[in-house]
Formats: sequence, C-alpha cells, structure tokens
Amino acid sequence: MKFVKLFEPLKLRNTEIRNRIIMPAMALNFSPDRTVNDKTIDFYEERSKGGVGLIILGGCGVEDRGSGPTMLSIADDKYIPGYTKFAERVHKHGAKTIVQLYHAGAYSGMPGMVSSSAVMSNLTRRVPEELSIEEIKIVQENHALAAERARKAGFDGVELLGSAGYLINQFLSPNTNKRTDEYGGSLENRLRYPLELIKLVKDRVGKDITVGMRVAGDDFVPGSNTYKESAVFAKHYDDAGIDYINVTGGWHETRIPQLPMMVPPAAYVYLADNIKENLNAPVFSANRINDPILAERILRNEWADGICFGRGLIADPYLPNKAKENKLWDIKKCLACNQGCFDHIFTGRSVECLRNYQASREGKFDLDQKTKTPMKVVIVGSGPGGLEAARVATILGHKVTILEKKEKIGGQVNAAFIPPGRNEMQEIIKYYKAQIKHRNIDLQLNTEASLEKINALEPDVVIFATGIKFTIPDIPGIDGSLGSTLYFADDVLTGDYHVGKNVVVVGGSATGMETALWVADLGALDSEIARFISIYDLIPREEIFSKWLRGNRNVTIIEKLPKIGLNLGRTSRGFMIGHSMKMGIKTITGANITKFEGKTVEFELEGEKNSIDNIDTFILATGVQPNTDLYDSVMASNPSYKIYRVGDCNDKKKDKRNMMDAIHEGYQTAYNLDK
Ligand SMILES: Cc1cc2nc3c(=O)[nH]c(=O)nc-3n(C[C@H](O)[C@H](O)[C@H](O)COP(=O)(O)O)c2cc1C
Repeated sequence: MKFVKLFEPLKLRNTEIRNRIIMPAMALNFSPDRTVNDKTIDFYEERSKGGVGLIILGGCGVEDRGSGPTMLSIADDKYIPGYTKFAERVHKHGAKTIVQLYHAGAYSGMPGMVSSSAVMSNLTRRVPEELSIEEIKIVQENHALAAERARKAGFDGVELLGSAGYLINQFLSPNTNKRTDEYGGSLENRLRYPLELIKLVKDRVGKDITVGMRVAGDDFVPGSNTYKESAVFAKHYDDAGIDYINVTGGWHETRIPQLPMMVPPAAYVYLADNIKENLNAPVFSANRINDPILAERILRNEWADGICFGRGLIADPYLPNKAKENKLWDIKKCLACNQGCFDHIFTGRSVECLRNYQASREGKFDLDQKTKTPMKVVIVGSGPGGLEAARVATILGHKVTILEKKEKIGGQVNAAFIPPGRNEMQEIIKYYKAQIKHRNIDLQLNTEASLEKINALEPDVVIFATGIKFTIPDIPGIDGSLGSTLYFADDVLTGDYHVGKNVVVVGGSATGMETALWVADLGALDSEIARFISIYDLIPREEIFSKWLRGNRNVTIIEKLPKIGLNLGRTSRGFMIGHSMKMGIKTITGANITKFEGKTVEFELEGEKNSIDNIDTFILATGVQPNTDLYDSVMASNPSYKIYRVGDCNDKKKDKRNMMDAIHEGYQTAYNLDK
C-alpha cells in the first residue's frame, strides 16, 4: 500500500505539521490535581515518538465552573510549567501541540455552572445560571487568557470547543439558548458568542499561534442544529479567520451512537465532507477512523484534509510510523470496544486500553530489553490472553509453543465478531495471526493439550489460557431439547445449526443481546443485492429498504434479572438496547424459566405462570464457567515447571472478567516470566 496523501505535510496558517495524522483532545483522567503531570507527558511523548503529526491536549478547563474536577486546567498561571514541559518533550520528537480550551457550560455539572440560558441540561439534569452580557465577556476573556498561557508555554495553537454539546453549542442551539438579547434568537445572534470568541482569541494570540475550532458536524439532538446549520456555522468561522475546523459527531446527550463498535468505521466522515465545501481552512474528520488505509482513502477522496485518530493512537502510539514503514501487520487497531477508555472515564478511572497494556504505563515496560534467561514456554489455548502472552514472551526472547485444539486461533473471539456491529473484533484474530507469522511462533493447531503432550515438550513454563466452558442450567426438559431445538449461542453464531423462524434467546447479557441482534438480521437482503435491485428498480424502493433493514425471524430474549445487558459497559448498553428495540426484538425480564418441552418454554413472571409456544429454536446464552480441567490435572501431577493462568480460565479472579483482563494478564504474565 502506498500512502500518497497521509504523510503529506499540512499547513495550519503558521504551523506546519509533518503529516495528516492528528490526535484529537481526549480527557485521560491522569491528573487528580489538574496539572499537566509526568504521566500525561510520558503518554503523549510516546505518541510523538510514534510519528503523529499533531497532538491536541485536553480538554483543558478555562474556568473551574465550566470544567470537571479531574480534567486538566489552564485557568491559572500556576499551570503553565506543566504545559511548558509538555510542549518541550512532545516537540522533541516532531509532533506539534495544541491546547483544547474547554468550557462545558451546563454540561460541567460543577457548582455555579453557567450557560446561554437557564435551561435544564439533558446530560447533568441540572439547571445552569444564565450568563449576563458582562459575564459572557468574562468567559470569553478567560479563554483569551488561557490561549496566552498556551502560547507562553510554547504550544503551537489552541482549539476552541464548539462540539459535543458544550458551551459554544449551548449558545448555538435553539434548544438551550432562549435569550432575547443580541446573543439569542436568530442564527446570527446565536453565532455571536463563538464569532466574538474567535475574534478575541485571534486578536490576542493569532499572530503567533494557530486558532482552530472543533465543531459538531450534526448535534443529533431533536430540535437542535443539524449538518445543514453546521455547514453554515463553519463558513462563518472560516470567514472570521479560523485556522482549521475539526469536525466530530453529535452531542453527548444524543441517542445516536457516536463511538462504540457498532458505528461503522468512517461513518461520520460525511459530516466533514459536508462542511469542507467552500471553506479555506483545512478540515479534520474524526470518529471511528482506526486504519491508515482508510485515512488515506478519506484524504484521496478529498472528504477531509486531516484525520483524527483518537483511540487508535491510545491503542497503538506507533501507528503512524508503522504505516510509513509499511508494517501494517504490526498495528494494533482500536476496536472501539471502549472498555479501557470511555467506560473508564465514565466511572472516574484513568484511561487504559484493551489492546495496549502499556497505554497509561508509558516508560514502565521495555520490550527491547531481551531476557537473559530464555525459557521454553508452552501456552495452552489461543484466545486473546494466550495470544498476547505468546507475542510478548516471543518478543522478549523466550521460545513459545501454542497448543490449540481447534483448527483456528482466537477462542471465543471467533463467535464474538459474528453479531452485527461486532465485526471489528476480527482485528484481534488478524493481528495475532500476523504476529504468529512474522515472529515465527510455533503454533500447533488441531492439537488437544494433555499432561503427556505438555510434558513431552519439556517446558520451563506453562501458561493456561483455556477460557470458559458452557454449563447447562438445571431446568426440566433441557436435556431433551439440547441439540434438537436448543443450542449454545457460540455454536449457533459460528454457523453450526439452522435457526428457525421463531426464536427464544435464553439470557440477556451481552452475549444474549448480541446473539438476538444477529438472529434478527437473518434473512435480511444483502447490501450488494439491495443495490443491484435498486439500480434496476426491480421492486419498489420502500420494499427493498424494509427487506434490507431487518431479517425475517421473530426474536424474544428471556432474562431472569430485572434488566438486560447488565454486563455491558456504560457507553454501549443504552445503544444496544435501542438497537434491539429498533430490530423488533422482544424482551422479557425478571422471568424464571421452569421447563422446556418441545416447542414450548414455560416461565414464571411476577409470580404468574407463563409460556411461549411454537418456538423453532432456543439459544442458550447463559452459564459459563472457567475451564480449569486440564490445569487441575496438571497441577495434581506436581509438575517441575512453573504454571500460570490468564483470562477467563483463572477461577482465582472473582471480579468481572472481560477481554481487557485477558489481554492484560497475558502481557503481564509473559513480561514477568524471568522477573
Ligand atoms: C476517553 C476519551 C475522552 C475524550 N475527551 C474529549 C475531550 O475532552 N474533548 C473533545 O473534544 N473530545 C474528546 N473525546 C473525543 C475524541 O476526541 C474523539 O473525537 C473520539 O474519541 C472519536 O475518535 P476515535 O474514534 O478516533 O477515538 C474523548 C474521547 C475519549 C475516548
């Protein structure tokens, strides 16, 4: 693959960045005292070493009432030294630096929070104070002072925050701006606050440093601004001399998914393309762009001038250099799982990354330091935890053999990527396949591990990554149904069984919900066929649309807990529920199944007996437990070698397990083998 555009320098008025790869602002929750501390600097220095063109730091609060208690602050001169150190260390490796000036208005949830009007925020459920005209000037002045601090610290620019529903949006939106003075009412009036802000900040620092604006490409909030108004706003910003426009998606309160895996890669590039027409300033595109080849395509299509890789650069700080050196096989692509980043932020924890154990631990691990005591390592099982252990152990100089009883690697991931919106999970398998190939790791497929087999390999260390096994709930009639009308979710997803017209999924956890969505899609018109039929007008468009949108199965989820999706992260659960409803999936919660009989399932609901008849297929998405069978027998044999467990098979770990735990344990175990 030749990158014609991605590595072209980009000029942002007086700042030239070395390529088109931008790391957008991401609140990392690294700094309890709100200073730019060493952890933050180490994190970004690594990304600068990795070849990114521009790093946008932040959001950095310009006022305490408009910011979060653990967000970076630039509201006082005392913060300048941290920023200075940041700029020096990041510049050393070639990336340019911009501070995002953050004011969340009614989204801050802080005491004394302010907004354009005293309208209750749909995010914080609280009513802000309306800014008087004098106070508007103070807020604007605080932005200008912050911009001067950024300049003083040696930053190359500042970014104003006109996206995600923050203060600028609160002025722009008729939903939140109910003012009757010159800052409210008409579109021109609602634009007054951001246009004055641009002028003020540019007057104060614009001769020396870049002043950009992040915009919501569409608020995706009923009654608020759409992509149409967004293009108008951008044109005004351009006319006011803004140096770049960084286009993202909707407000935080939107019901339209912005960041989870279910959003297809590059889904929101059209928002940048929509704004770019007739603009002088370069336009960046953001959200779900995780692949340099995709980024190159966006640039070649002239949909945008710069590409934001947010989570993509958390997952792999060296993505730019690896792309440049054509080592695409070695890039850890962001899965948009949100397990370590967004879900952590929403629960008050620091950002981590499922794919990259080193993210947030920069400088603490050095895979270039090879082991002085190479060991023979046998890994049993090739799920994500085992594969990560194999990768890290091999890089460190150990000799690894993976034993996998199936004909392919990946373990549970092979079923996990099948449901709609989960395709990105395949990246895990692709990545580790490439690692095995390029690093010459000994992989023995179709090889069931046993005590004898392991002993014959004479290992120094054995790492068990044997995952889970399914358990059959103790429900009358289940044995008779298993294999005739009732199947395990993973077996159905991997295509081993026919799924009939009327389907009940037993269990409404993540697996149950994803399986139900997959079933609801069965029988839908394939996209390519829908296009073909449309081109030749073979059937009416509405019919094509409805046949394409959903399949021909009737799906019901039965869950014993009061809610479904309780093991999903906060950033995915609501969207998954919304998606299920749109697909017509019925859910029955708080139901205790009492019997399976032929095509009928009986259950108790609120003390009453209920049943559903005429079910063709039951799918079991309940009951898994750590698979420790082989581990137990090897331990019982009193082996001479060291033994570890990683991931789901580790029944010592009682906490909630997920793929991030498995991969991180794989890394830690392999890294510490000789320690
Ligand atoms: C943990 C986290 C924190 C974020 N914080 C901010 C922020 O403070 N300001 C902002 O404009 N965007 C913020 N974003 C949005 C990102 O800048 C980016 O638009 C988003 O992650 C989508 O891009 P991606 O798919 O490349 O990650 C944040 C995203 C994440 C994951």
